[in-house]
Amino acid sequence: MKVLITGGAGFIGSHVADAYLRAGHEVVIADNLSTGNTDNIPAKAKFYLLDIGSQELDKLFELEKPEIVDHHAAQISVTASTRDPMQDARVNALGLLNLLETCVRHRIGKLIFISTGGAIYGDTEDMPTPEGHPPQPVSPYGIHKSLGEQYLRFYGAQHGLHYTVLRYANVYGPRQNPLGEAGVVSIFINTLLKGQTPTVFAYPDEPEGMLRDYVYVEDVAAANLAAADKGGGELINIGTGLTTTTGALYRAIASFFEHPPEPKRGEARPGDLRRSCLNIEKAEKVLAWKPSVDLKEGLSRTVNFFS
Ligand SMILES: NC(=O)c1ccc[n+]([C@@H]2O[C@H](COP(=O)([O-])OP(=O)(O)OC[C@H]3O[C@@H](n4cnc5c(N)ncnc54)[C@H](O)[C@@H]3O)[C@@H](O)[C@H]2O)c1
Repeated sequence: MKVLITGGAGFIGSHVADAYLRAGHEVVIADNLSTGNTDNIPAKAKFYLLDIGSQELDKLFELEKPEIVDHHAAQISVTASTRDPMQDARVNALGLLNLLETCVRHRIGKLIFISTGGAIYGDTEDMPTPEGHPPQPVSPYGIHKSLGEQYLRFYGAQHGLHYTVLRYANVYGPRQNPLGEAGVVSIFINTLLKGQTPTVFAYPDEPEGMLRDYVYVEDVAAANLAAADKGGGELINIGTGLTTTTGALYRAIASFFEHPPEPKRGEARPGDLRRSCLNIEKAEKVLAWKPSVDLKEGLSRTVNFFS
């Protein structure tokens, strides 16, 4: 099978590319390298430098004739989306529309759309949160991901496009960009490696920080492979169902270092959710998938990678 991975030069997309290649599939990557890096691109994948919102995308489909599209390209920072909602819309709404139109024109067999759990469910007491929870996004990033899911329903009903939506929890692991605003695991590790002191962001009444569901990137890649032939027309959470506070995460990472500093404390940023954790029963049932790497093991592998 030939699969096109958009955003395949990025953190998660490159691990997804590795997983498809290991399973014996052909991989084509489309990425504009806005946050991605050519070092992440597997040697066996074919690479096109292009923007998903551009006309070049159609030429790629014409040349490569992919059977499946696994859509990871996105503006990924919640904070950046609150500062510049238009830019978020350009990539996460208009870019997606261009991709959907192209998929329909070329009669693609299936689209896997990567969405988000936390930013779509918003702050909720219903944890771990199931897929049926009403969307209540509080950032342009969450709003546009939710809009994307609704467009998929339209393209499914109107044009017969086959799709599966994967709503990720907080993904971490090797290759995550430590210089961005998202990706607390890689930020903590790289700040400690530089001998500096990381900051734990928290709301004043919850000094231990936010509650998050951290899932290891290779488990996430395996979920994409499972979704290639299962879960048609479904929205599916991909996480662990377990929560960790930012403070506890810091201590778990610090335990791999000698004499780690006490972290600085910072105020929660605009769009920061207090809590997020995904119910993964549906992924187990529909995709026969569950995470296999626990937080301690995943952090150890990630610290080793960056060291
Ligand atoms: N990292 C997480 O915890 C997390 C959680 C939920 C959802 N997601 C989603 O997973 C996907 C991958 O995220 P990531 O963490 O690997 O981020 P990333 O920034 O490493 O990867 C995104 C990739 O998309 C590329 N890209 C961005 N805009 C593009 C455009 N207009 N045209 C072509 N390529 C473009 C970037 O260059 C980059 O390589 C995104 O859709 C993101 O919203 C990530």
